[in-house]
Amino acid sequence: MTEMDRKGLSKMGARASDLPISWLMEKSLERPSIVSLAAGFTDNASLPVAFTREVVEQVLGNNLRGQKALQYGTTRGDDRLRSLISTQINSIDHETGATPISPAEIVITHGSQQFLYLFCEMMLDEGDVVIVEDPTYFVMLGLLENRGVEVRGVPINTQGVDIGALDQLLHSLKADGKISRLKFFYAVTYFQNPSGLTTPASNKLEVLDLLEKFESSAGHRLYYLEDAAYMHLGFMGHPMPTALSFEKHRGRIVFSSTFSKPYATGLRVGYGILPDDLVNPILFIKTNHDFGTSNFLQALMVTIIETGRYDQHLTVLRQRYADKCRMLDDAMRIHFPDWATWQVPDGGLYIWVQLPDHMDTSLNGAIFQAAFEKEVLYVPGGLCFARQPGAGDQNAHHRATLRLSYGGASEDAIRLGAQRLGDALKEFVPG
Ligand SMILES: Cc1ncc(COP(=O)(O)O)c(C=O)c1O
Repeated sequence: MTEMDRKGLSKMGARASDLPISWLMEKSLERPSIVSLAAGFTDNASLPVAFTREVVEQVLGNNLRGQKALQYGTTRGDDRLRSLISTQINSIDHETGATPISPAEIVITHGSQQFLYLFCEMMLDEGDVVIVEDPTYFVMLGLLENRGVEVRGVPINTQGVDIGALDQLLHSLKADGKISRLKFFYAVTYFQNPSGLTTPASNKLEVLDLLEKFESSAGHRLYYLEDAAYMHLGFMGHPMPTALSFEKHRGRIVFSSTFSKPYATGLRVGYGILPDDLVNPILFIKTNHDFGTSNFLQALMVTIIETGRYDQHLTVLRQRYADKCRMLDDAMRIHFPDWATWQVPDGGLYIWVQLPDHMDTSLNGAIFQAAFEKEVLYVPGGLCFARQPGAGDQNAHHRATLRLSYGGASEDAIRLGAQRLGDALKEFVPG
């Protein structure tokens, strides 16, 4: 698009740019011989086609029920589905003794991506500040940057968010007079995309306590946006408690999750859970968008959950991803040079790889080129880090990372992809 073409667009329209992941996806579709370990697709072989066919029959089998499903619904979403979601969340947090959440706090959206978008629209003006984990979900980074938001990153590790670094960042935002522009902290807390890390519940509490501490300086609530998109995909089963289990912080917790990853990405039914005072504002914005998520898809989800198919499918899926993850890890151990390191996740879809600091996995770098020539794709890790203001080019440690996914690739593709990438990496000698 030329400068001329962008004239007349809104600021957001003019700023919008395609995400590099779309380019990666196009490449793999154009050339079927390419093995993509880049896309965050889910496993094809286990997609519940037969289950879902039966459910469609069930929903449309009864005339009244069918008519209801094929009619517009409400903006907040199907009552029964919201009640089933509250039961799911309350059973995860049950042991903490927290007061159950109620269906009235839940809004159903078209995938959790729509919820993230609506939440940003409700909260953010150009020039506002959002803190994310470093690394983070790069689609969220794109969404924030596109809105003209200043995105600040805080490192994460196996213990969760680096609390010292977060404290320091909050102090520096206060000293720079920017704390009043800070709106929320965004965390992908289960088997994170891209790092595979899970945030311990105690770390969620420490972050919440810190946010609370800085609220008087900000002059408003500082929200903790917990993105639990992969919550149900732990290989061991039952998820750890959500941030919602910290009752004294309920007013500052916004929770987002989805049935995409644990059931079918093609259905795109997601949801958000919000403090009471945020429910109406987000519903007004959702009314402007679509005045309600597809009623038919919600009716399917209700039947899928009520008939026990959801839980049955999850059992299969967890085993499947555990097997695929092990397969990728085994192949990487065989083919990768010993200077590449990674930690095997215990859920989700991703393995995050660290190379020596001077190496560069960027799209326009020699490693990506070598991998591309050998017909394998990965996500350059640098795309997943917030660009620190004034820091110029990204820091080398970030550029030396990459994300691999065992979600969408078949078993053969996983083995072949790891071999090709290992061969490409071996062309480079660490200095
Ligand atoms: C961390 C995270 N959040 C949200 C989403 C959005 O998923 P969906 O809109 O399908 O629910 C994704 C998808 O990849 C994700 O990785």
